[in-house]
Parts: sequence; C-alpha cells; structure tokens
Amino acid sequence: MYNLAKNYFKILVLMSAAQGLLISAAYAETEGHYGLGRIATQEEIAGWDIDVRPDGLGLPAGSGSVADGEGLYEGKCASCHGSFGEGEGRWPILAGGFGTLSEGRPEKTVGSYWPYASTLYDYINRAMPFTAPQSLTPNETYAITAYVLYLNEIVDEDFVLSKGNFSTVVMPNAEGFFEDDRPDVRNPTCMKNCKDPSSIKVTSTIAGVTPTEHMEENAPIE
Ligand code: HEC
Repeated sequence: MYNLAKNYFKILVLMSAAQGLLISAAYAETEGHYGLGRIATQEEIAGWDIDVRPDGLGLPAGSGSVADGEGLYEGKCASCHGSFGEGEGRWPILAGGFGTLSEGRPEKTVGSYWPYASTLYDYINRAMPFTAPQSLTPNETYAITAYVLYLNEIVDEDFVLSKGNFSTVVMPNAEGFFEDDRPDVRNPTCMKNCKDPSSIKVTSTIAGVTPTEHMEENAPIE
C-alpha cells in the first residue's frame, strides 16, 4: 500500500513537471515574474468584459423590439418562467408583485424590485437561458429584455429597446434603492489628533444582541 502511494506520488510529480515544461515552452516568449502564463489578448479580455452599468455603459451596439422578444421569450424562456413571467412550478417569477415589498411575503420580481434595467440585460446576457448561457446575440438580448419589461408594464407593446434609448427606461423601484445615510455608515478613518482607543467606552447596546460583559455602567456619553 505504501509503495503504491509512493509511486502514485512520483507519477503526479512527473506529470506536474511535464506540464510545467509544456507551459513554459508554449509561453516562453512572454514569461513573467513566475515564468508562467502570458498577457491576455484583447479578444480574451473582451470575452470577460461583458458587464453593463445602470447608465448603459458596456452595452453592445444593437436593438430589439417587444414584438421580436415575444417569440424569442416564448421559445427560450417561457418553459421555466411562464408565458407571462408568472413562473412555472418553482422556477423564478419575472413579472408582477407590485406593491408587495412592504408586505409579510414580498414578491421580488424584475418589475417590483429591480432598480435598473441594466441588471436585466446583464443577467439575461450572462446567464440565460439557464441551459445555454451566453448563447443569445445582442439583438436577441435587447428584444427579450424589452419583452420582460413589457410583461412588467414598464414599456408599451410597440417599444424598441436599443443602446441609444436604454438609459431612458426607469424601473418602478429605482427610488427604493438609495445610499444609506444613517450616521453609523459614515465612518471616516481618523488620520490626525485621533481619540485614544483606550478612552472609548461602549455606552449603549441592542438588547440581547451586543455582548455586554465589557460595558461600563454609567460611562459618560461623549
Ligand atoms: C431551464 C429553466 C430556465 C430557462 C429556460 C430560463 N431560465 Fe431564467 N432562470 C432560471 C433559474 C433556475 C433562475 C434562478 C437562477 C439563480 O438564482 O441562480 C433564473 C433566473 C432568471 C432571472 C432572474 C430572476 C430573479 O428575480 O432573480 C431572469 C431575469 C431570467 N432568469 C430570465 C430568463 C430569460 C429572459 C430566459 C430566456 C432567454 C430564461 N430566463 C430562461 C431558469 C430558467
């Protein structure tokens, strides 16, 4: 058993050595600090660089209509997400749920919850259809995005979504996301004349959550 393991180990070492040789042989001309790898090509970087920002930055050229999106959606998406975005079985719901966010069981959908249309384009482009991610062309993605917006009554049936008009789409819950302005989220690092940490005392606590063993009774609030 021991010998077997030892031989197995030897084979592994030999294999890694051989791989190392292969790698350095293939990329010898660009070997860097560690003698491994090479600079990514522009094409390779473009393949990863597919994110879309809320203001539309990162979108490819192209466009697609609600009408074109309907057929594409029916063929590629409806089997899981339902013809009206209602979700088949336990697959995710994509439409509706308006006004439920403050209820006991909020229904978070593209329409009721998502703040930016760019997330929709990006999600579909990056990850859908579930069984064939990144198989859609830019025009197909624009059309299906437009159709899901239409299912949520965010655009009309004759709407054509394009790189040019993308930033004009306003999502119903855009205002639901904002910068947290409570004082304890602003925590600028002190750079000079800073308080001596040993003089800082914990003076209040959330009952049952914050540990209290180290607290000082009646410490002055500064
Ligand atoms: C085989 C089933 C299937 C098909 C077909 C499919 N999806 Fe999905 N979709 C999923 C699953 C599963 C998730 C959740 C994935 C996760 O949470 O990781 C999802 C998530 C999504 C979401 C995010 C929902 C949310 O609120 O988080 C969107 C938008 C979406 N899909 C759009 C589409 C579109 C558009 C198509 C057609 C191009 C499509 N999907 C095809 C299964 C599917």
